[in-house]
Amino acid sequence: MNQKLISHILLFFFCIGCVSINNSIMAQNAPDKYEAKVDSLMNLMTLEEKIGQTVMYSGGWDKTGPTIRTDFEKHVKVGNVGAMLNVYTVKGTREMQKLAVENTRLGIPLLFGYDVIHGHRTIFPINLGLSSSWDLDLIEQTSRIAATEASAEGLHWTFAPMVDIARDPRWGRISEGAGEDVYLGSEIAKAYVKGFQGDDLSKTNTILACAKHFVGYGAAQAGRDYHTVNMGEEELRNVYLPPFKAAVDAGVETFMTAFNEVNGVPASGNKFLFRDILRGEWDFKGFVVSDYTAINEMIQHGFAKDSIDTARLAMHAGIDMDMMGEVYRLHLKKLIEEEAIDVALVNESCKKILMAKFKLGLFDDPYRYNDEQREKETIYKPEFLKVAREAAAASNVLLQNKNEALPLDKTKTIALIGPLAKDEFHINGNWGGAGDRKGKSVSIYEGLQDYLKDSQMLYAKGCEIESEDEKGFQEAINAAKKADVVLLVMGESYHMSGEAASRTNLRIPGNQTKLIKKIREAVPNKKIILVLMNGRPLNLSDEVNEVDAILEAWYPGTMGGSGVADVLFGIYNPSGKLTATFPRNVGQVPIYYNMKNTGRPIPERDPKEDYKSNYIDVPNTPLFPFGYGLSYTKFEYSDLKLSDTNIGFNDTLTADITITNTGNYDGHEIVQLYVHDKVGSITRPVKELKGFQKIFLKKGESKTVTFNLTAADLKFYNDENKFTVEPGEFEIAIAPSSDFKFKHIFTLKE
Ligand code: BGC
Repeated sequence: MNQKLISHILLFFFCIGCVSINNSIMAQNAPDKYEAKVDSLMNLMTLEEKIGQTVMYSGGWDKTGPTIRTDFEKHVKVGNVGAMLNVYTVKGTREMQKLAVENTRLGIPLLFGYDVIHGHRTIFPINLGLSSSWDLDLIEQTSRIAATEASAEGLHWTFAPMVDIARDPRWGRISEGAGEDVYLGSEIAKAYVKGFQGDDLSKTNTILACAKHFVGYGAAQAGRDYHTVNMGEEELRNVYLPPFKAAVDAGVETFMTAFNEVNGVPASGNKFLFRDILRGEWDFKGFVVSDYTAINEMIQHGFAKDSIDTARLAMHAGIDMDMMGEVYRLHLKKLIEEEAIDVALVNESCKKILMAKFKLGLFDDPYRYNDEQREKETIYKPEFLKVAREAAAASNVLLQNKNEALPLDKTKTIALIGPLAKDEFHINGNWGGAGDRKGKSVSIYEGLQDYLKDSQMLYAKGCEIESEDEKGFQEAINAAKKADVVLLVMGESYHMSGEAASRTNLRIPGNQTKLIKKIREAVPNKKIILVLMNGRPLNLSDEVNEVDAILEAWYPGTMGGSGVADVLFGIYNPSGKLTATFPRNVGQVPIYYNMKNTGRPIPERDPKEDYKSNYIDVPNTPLFPFGYGLSYTKFEYSDLKLSDTNIGFNDTLTADITITNTGNYDGHEIVQLYVHDKVGSITRPVKELKGFQKIFLKKGESKTVTFNLTAADLKFYNDENKFTVEPGEFEIAIAPSSDFKFKHIFTLKE
């Protein structure tokens, strides 16, 4: 018998074993029992085949990095590839899977990964928008739907969630995350992971999640993408690592490296991050994929001398899979032969990757995600679109509403103006997955049609997003003059945020603001409402003076127009609150609520006092703070009661507050709990979010909201990098945003 035949026979018996073992294991949900199966498969594998599992290529259906290759099929056929990205649909992934399963010696199935970031076909608001809902159930639901659609199109793995803390709106990728806060970011990370992975990876509607980008990517100097990251271990551990730890706690199966260096060592070659922290301290058992050619880029970083060196460094650091870099395929074997790396490292990586394939059930049936009927029935399901509409509305943040300019009155005539008013292309935002950008998404114009007759809408584009041309101005001004109310839909184009889309200017681009000013001059007494679509906090210092109301709609996704219209007409009372601070100007950046006090904070008694940590041209405060967002109704906070003013390390402090809806609409309120650890072995932030609840109150209704706080909630990494809590005084507040002054105090005693 020849070698190939022997292998096939072995694999046949091996796979029969898998089926029964898989079934019982799935029932028990005890994945370590796959170990024996993985080991016996690995006993059949050559070194080349094992290396093949560590290689990922892009199929080029989508371009998410600088290189595109065309010879990937050749490599798939000979077992040089373990995973593919940027291939989807049942047909596409089936064809590719066939190449692997039917041509390679052992028929090991491929893993298909894709950037399913805020929806797959049905697109939800961009992640920064979704985070503004502070609705963990809703966020989990959106990623559950995304996983259902993606898996119905042959995908096994999403490169999400991005859990990078981002405090710099110049950085275009702030749009992909949950904003600036550690606590909220960690809770949201868990919700995404749960939604994508569900409770059982062997189900065909669940996919592997990926916590990215490990780590510090959001702290790129000057907000420039891929730029250097330098930070002390204190900041790393207290701010940037916690959302990743939360993802591990939620059971995330994979991690992705960051492009940036961290304190001189590129993340993709960073042993401290991956071996010491991720695997050592956190006991992460899944596999790590590099970012797109990030291993190779260690040459440009000046950390590796050549491509062989990059493979050595990345393997040593614990990077299991090489995305598009080719360096593992080309160099690992030689590195083992030369004893520059131990074969055990490759075995370990291969094992983890195979383990994931087992968990997904791919050894039972490599085509179990390839069902045409299911694909047809699943994508853009009406119930998914319903959630998308709700998510669009829930992510809206009402930034300004002078004289109750909103909600709109259905009987009035509206001048609908702006380059994004009829847009169906940008509305899905960056990383719009496989969502259609033409014909599928509901524009704001279309959304308004549910509420208004066409004759009540006087449309004029007015200007382009990024042009200085004023030829459309007059038409827009004429429409404004004829209408009762002016509704502007403006903002950034979708490719002005996302990857490699950093800006140094945070203003609305082109001459859009100029048009706003001209319209204000022409109709000084009419209500002007500005609806914004953008992927980052913007500098709206001019616009706040020109318009009556500002509704931040982000990029609201497939059902964006309907969700925004629901908010504009008061069918959905806006309740979103900012998760990233809006600065007064770009010079204040990075600006975030949980800053340190400095030795010279601005004194309340005299904000102009000399030699203080301030600017001479603008206040230190932002234009709109973290946690801020208006409603059509009003909520009053009264009567904060603490169960005690002294608590021990094993006690629970209960904080109660009464919230009353004193306005004229029913609505949701996001109630936020903050503390301030007054003295620490390292300085502590002036405020830290430690809890929140989203409640619903009918008009006139009151509710008591209760938070429980324990010593564990007050832990931080101290001066010795130990996660601990220190006794002492803490200030505490329950507030509608991060803009408040503490009035209550408690003491934590050992
Ligand atoms: C991005 C990742 C993404 C990957 C694959 C990279 O350029 O940084 O976030 O998952 O491409 O598309």
